[in-house]
Amino acid sequence: MTLTLLGIESSCDDSAAAVVRSDRVILSSVVEGQAALHAPFGGVVPEIAARAHAEKLDGCVERALAEAGIGLRDLDGVAVTSGPGLIGGVLSGVMLARGIAAATGLPLVGVNHLAGHALTPRLTDGLEFPYLMLLVSGGHCQFLMVSGPGSFRRLGGTIDDAPGEAFDKVAKLLALPQPGGPPLEAEALTGQPRFPLPRPLLDRPGCDLSFSGLKTAVLRMRDALIAEHGGLRRQDRADLCASFQAAVAAVLAEKTRRALAESGAPVLAVAGGVAANTVIRTALQGVCDKAGVGFTAPPLRLCTDNAAMIAWAGIEKLQAGLVDPADLTARPRWPLDALAAPMIGSGKKGAKA
Ligand code: KG4
Ligand code: ZN
Repeated sequence: MTLTLLGIESSCDDSAAAVVRSDRVILSSVVEGQAALHAPFGGVVPEIAARAHAEKLDGCVERALAEAGIGLRDLDGVAVTSGPGLIGGVLSGVMLARGIAAATGLPLVGVNHLAGHALTPRLTDGLEFPYLMLLVSGGHCQFLMVSGPGSFRRLGGTIDDAPGEAFDKVAKLLALPQPGGPPLEAEALTGQPRFPLPRPLLDRPGCDLSFSGLKTAVLRMRDALIAEHGGLRRQDRADLCASFQAAVAAVLAEKTRRALAESGAPVLAVAGGVAANTVIRTALQGVCDKAGVGFTAPPLRLCTDNAAMIAWAGIEKLQAGLVDPADLTARPRWPLDALAAPMIGSGKKGAKA
């Protein structure tokens, strides 16, 4: 039987709703970003995010249903991100989903936001279990061995910043616009990676990563260049961008090589905004080619935060017979792999899971 689910996502700064079918058809996917609201503050402000979600989510759901050409009575369930993330936003989504479920009698499914990302290649490519997922975005950075809809083993992750966060911070240091990934990548095209920047944690075994020191190294290099030349010259800035990008790519490539060797996974799937970076993507593809494993990356609009991935993860849970009670709660922290050691600190976009 084909299932049709409504998905709702509000864990960070995107209000999103989508309708997805179990035969992997996305009937609609509505994403309303809040970038303009947070831009004056240089980062996501949780209270502003929560209020915007509360205002926008109803409209997103109405649009998603209208674009799918169906009504609530045509659904087989409601899936909602119930964590991890900024609690005010997660609560907005959970309360809306609870209301819809109570009013319609539809099954309610709470989805882990990271599971949504991690299961996306099954929606987009029909990927079979098991596979290795590398999540690299502004808020996430981890290697996950995905063996089933609820079976995730965390092989490693960042101990401080996520790579997208590092791209954004380095772009800010170099007076490039936000979000910093795309302009930094464009700037790097005209530069040479000639500055010696560190390759954090490569000297240590395992798959954990760190990007905060790299950002500080760029800051020092920038200040040294300014002191030497009385300002940051255009070519030096391009060379700094190229050097930073090369360092991130090298670290991600080597840690991916280790994660593939440790897990024995036949395929690597990447997701998250940073996966859009051509240099990083090429480096990862190279590692996979060398290791003789497949490589796949979902289309960008499904790599970044969206509700289609939440609806899909809800479908997988529902098919496994997993339904949540009517009083489903929001969880700010919710590691996918309960056995993995917790990480310290929190990212730009809320608690690291
Ligand atoms: O997945 P995403 O849209 O949002 C979350 O963080 O959840 O990722 C956004 C992040 C931003 O930090 C952005 O700078 C980074 O992905 N990004 C890139 C590129 N495009 C987006 N980083 C490097 N190179 C890019 N081309
Ligand atoms: Zn995300």
